[in-house]
Formats: sequence, C-alpha cells, structure tokens
Amino acid sequence: MRSLRILSCGGAHPKRMVTNDDLAKIVDTSDEWITTRTGIKSRYFCSEGETANSMAIEAASVALKRSGVDPAEIGCIVTATISGDYATPSISCMIQKELGLPEEIPVLDVSAACSGFIYALEVARGLLESTGGRYALVTGCEQLSKLLDMTDRSTCVLFGDGAGSCLVEAFEDEQSEQKKFVTSLGAKGDMAITAEGVGTAKTRIQMDGKEVFRFAVSTIPKCIQDVLEKSNQVIDEIDWIVCHQANARIIEHCIKKMKAPAEKFYMNLDHYGNTSGASIPMALNEMYEQGLLIPGQNLILVGFGAGLTWGGAFLTYKGVDR
Ligand code: COA
Repeated sequence: MRSLRILSCGGAHPKRMVTNDDLAKIVDTSDEWITTRTGIKSRYFCSEGETANSMAIEAASVALKRSGVDPAEIGCIVTATISGDYATPSISCMIQKELGLPEEIPVLDVSAACSGFIYALEVARGLLESTGGRYALVTGCEQLSKLLDMTDRSTCVLFGDGAGSCLVEAFEDEQSEQKKFVTSLGAKGDMAITAEGVGTAKTRIQMDGKEVFRFAVSTIPKCIQDVLEKSNQVIDEIDWIVCHQANARIIEHCIKKMKAPAEKFYMNLDHYGNTSGASIPMALNEMYEQGLLIPGQNLILVGFGAGLTWGGAFLTYKGVDR
C-alpha cells in the first residue's frame, strides 16, 4: 500500500483579530478567566467578504504554490470542515474551481469535526491508492464564528476561524526509506458537543466542557501510543507532535500523563483559539513559516472532538527545495 508524506503547507485567517478583552465587552468574562482556563488570548473572526470558502481557497493556493507541483497533477481534493459556506457545493469543489484543478478527480469534504483533518488525510490516501493519483490537496477550514451563540460565555470564547492546507504526495512505501503513513481513527456517538446546521433557527455550538475535557485527556495519550505502536517507533524518534489546538490545559495534562517531552508539542492556540478541523494544518503552516519544519522530520498529528471522534496520524515532512 502507498503512504503519504507532506510536501508543503499553506494557511489563511481572517483580518479581524478578537481579543479576550473584546469578548469581555460582549459577555460576562475576563482575559484572566479565559487565559487561565484555556491558554487562549485572541482569535480571528470573519468579517464581510471573508468566508470558509475564501480562507480554504487561499490556504490551498499557498500550499500548491509552495509545492511547485503542476496543478494538472493533483489527484484528489479533500477538505475537513463542519462550517462550509454551503451544504453543497463542497469547499473542495470551490478550491478545484478557483485554482483550476483537474476535473477527472475525486473532490469532496469530510465531516469529522476537530478530528477532520486526520480523517481527510486517510481519505486522501485511499483515493490516491484507488485512482493511481500522486498528489492530494488536503485542507482543514472552519468559519466557526457563524456557529457561535455570542450570549453563551462558556463556548463563544473558545473558538475561531481559519484554514490550513497541506499538499501531500503518495509514495510506494515498500521501496522507500521514508517511514510509512499510519493512522488510528475512531468515534463513539455522543452529544457532548453539538451544533445545529447553518441555516436552521439556532446555529450554535453547545458543549459539556467538563465531559469533553475528560474525553480529550484520556483519548490523546491512547491515540499517540497507538500510532507509535503501529509505526513501530518510540516518542524519541518523533520530532513534532501536533495536537488539535483546543485548550492548552488539555495538551499540558496529556504531556504530564505521558511523561512526554513538552518541547515536542507545538502550540499556537493562544492566538487562534480552537479552529476545529483547521487547527492542525494551521499549526503545520505556522511551523513551516517559522522554519521549524525541516525535511525528513517525523510528525505525529492528533485530532479529537465532536462526534465524538478521534484520530492520530504518523507521517513525514518531505518538504520541497526552497
Ligand atoms: N468567563 C467567566 N466565567 C465562565 C466562563 C467564561 N468565559 N465560562 C464559564 N464560566 C463560569 C461558569 O459559569 C462556572 O460558573 P459557576 O461556578 O458560577 O457556575 C465557572 O466558570 C466554572 O465553569 P466550569 O464549566 O466548571 O469551568 P471549567 O473549569 O470546566 O472550564 C472549560 C471550562 C470549557 C474551559 C473546560 O471545561 C474545557 O476546557 N473543556 C474542554 C473544552 C474543549 O476544549 N472543547 C473543544 C474540544 S474539540
């Protein structure tokens, strides 16, 4: 079976930054409460003219450009989202149209909330395997601000908008020295986090925060362990662990529980908040832009969230000649 590796990353976020102090003018909250409970200091919300589609297209366009791959060679387009502009057409179809990508390829969105990007990678691997394609554009994009109840202080302070994209390449892992792509995916139906569809009378995210916290801190270490076992590695061999950026306390709790080296866990939720399916590729893009992603590095990605769903992946960052 063929594996996946990352060639390039792209990202996008709205122009309008919303700080904790800005939110304290709308709901009964404070910078101190939000910072100590979550680690979040600010997030971005879309304004007029900015949407899930526009952010996804920008992120995918940057990833494509940075890869140097001929657009005609893109073999599938998969986007993880729960907050697309339309029920249909999908965000992926809009990426295809705007970037002028091939028509004779599979193009679809995946709904697995904050685990969506990991699911999307596995879907892309399967599609490239069955169609014989070589490259996929895999994007995570959310405009969660339109799903927020701005009178509910327990949820509206947590989430933000943004998009991240990776151009990934399928390769024959039996003939390669590069390590195999491995995933660990799962779900258990549970209403701990819900959001009614866009366009319904109440389009808002509701959450049992404590239950989700417990779920996250038990799931993340198990998922990382499973990925390590399936890829036959130990944590010392991993360069970066990029968890879904929901809450700093969740990630710190897991680091402690696993007795893992904290410096391997990348965090940027302080300035983006929780961007659900977009958070992992946005983090990868930021790492790329800061020069932290070096060709050949080993990555573990971990998503968890509504569904409830979870997903872990091991893959390598191949990069491109800059
Ligand atoms: N500002 C100030 N006070 C707030 C508040 C806010 N934004 N949101 C809630 N509170 C209040 C509550 O009303 C409650 O007040 P009370 O004791 O008078 O009833 C108090 O703070 C404590 O609330 P509680 O829900 O017990 O807080 P918590 O310690 O569980 O922290 C979360 C809340 C949401 C930060 C925490 O549960 C969490 O991080 N959960 C995981 C959420 C998550 O990451 N979800 C996405 C996963 S993909």
